[in-house]
Amino acid sequence: MRTPGLIDPHVHMREPGGEHKEDWESGTRAALAGGVTMVLAMPNTKPSVTDSDTLATALSAARTKAVCDYAQFLGAGSGNLTKAATLAPFTAGLKMYLDQTFGTLKLNNMEDWLNHFRNWPSSSPLCVHAEGPSLATAILLAELTNRPVHLCHISLRSEILLIKAAKERGIPVTCEVTPHHLFLSQDDVSTIGPGRSEVRPMLASRADVQALWDNLEYIDCFATDHAPHTLQEKDGENPPPGFPGLESALPLYLTAAAEGRLTIDDIITRSVTNPRRIFHLPEQPDTFVEIDPQARWTFSAANTYTRCGWSPFEGYTMTGRVISVTLRGKVVYQDGKITTKSGSGQNIRPALNGIQ
Ligand code: DOR
Ligand code: ZN
Ligand code: ZN
Ligand code: ZN
Repeated sequence: MRTPGLIDPHVHMREPGGEHKEDWESGTRAALAGGVTMVLAMPNTKPSVTDSDTLATALSAARTKAVCDYAQFLGAGSGNLTKAATLAPFTAGLKMYLDQTFGTLKLNNMEDWLNHFRNWPSSSPLCVHAEGPSLATAILLAELTNRPVHLCHISLRSEILLIKAAKERGIPVTCEVTPHHLFLSQDDVSTIGPGRSEVRPMLASRADVQALWDNLEYIDCFATDHAPHTLQEKDGENPPPGFPGLESALPLYLTAAAEGRLTIDDIITRSVTNPRRIFHLPEQPDTFVEIDPQARWTFSAANTYTRCGWSPFEGYTMTGRVISVTLRGKVVYQDGKITTKSGSGQNIRPALNGIQ
């Protein structure tokens, strides 16, 4: 069976500054192994991507290392309110952190929230990490400023019901859900382990998970929020939040399809068609994934490309496997091997200062 290359609109590549967890090479290799041919990278790196210099740093690394196509988000800060908008064409979009998570990008001042919503061009995507009451605020700001807003990693019943109500009223919001919030709950914390289970939003109750499945029609995108941290960090004193996800996502969706919980069309709509529309992404010609939908196999982090070395889905029996990936006419992944050169991925946005 053949599907289009998947688009993951929410990944953390960790470069610059976190290359021991992941870099543009290991992260995009993981993407291809997962059937993902385009990634949108988050800005909570070290330093954060908030201006033209830091954007250039991230894009230069991507240019020499990436093996799939990509774009880089800019982070909203309290110091880049007006300057940010001039960089919009060169970015995947603007990412705003309304709640605390990994990194230093949380915006504490609500006035900055409104101003970023006002200043960022409405033709460019604006994404928010907003949980619970902050999510309600983000929806209000979308209504007040009359601009599209994408709500990252929804995890709660209360959140999906609020989004449903907002959509029914015509407020221009879209949302994404991660595989870990669809396939894991608080009940899995004891198996995964307390430090490794740390993730933002936290794993939710089984009732929350069920509400996501019951309201699938209001979920626009599947996004992994691939957030690699090493095993040493996850099992250490202050475990940072985040799960790797690029290599387990499509197998999990295909397993759900084999069980009759999703259709292949459900997967493609949320992993290709909708992300392409919401984030204004180009089509990738001659790009597809060969899948064996019947293959039964055991997922093991030992066989992954991500540098973090673990997975919350360790030992899961999957039904459905990526056999090969073709990107712009070239076989780039086959039978577990990456078959393309570092730097063969393309920035899908215009060049910033000649950095393409
Ligand atoms: O668990 C998370 N990890 N949630 C986030 O929002 C950030 C991410 C990270 O960068 O590690
Ligand atoms: Zn987030
Ligand atoms: Zn994230
Ligand atoms: Zn468009």
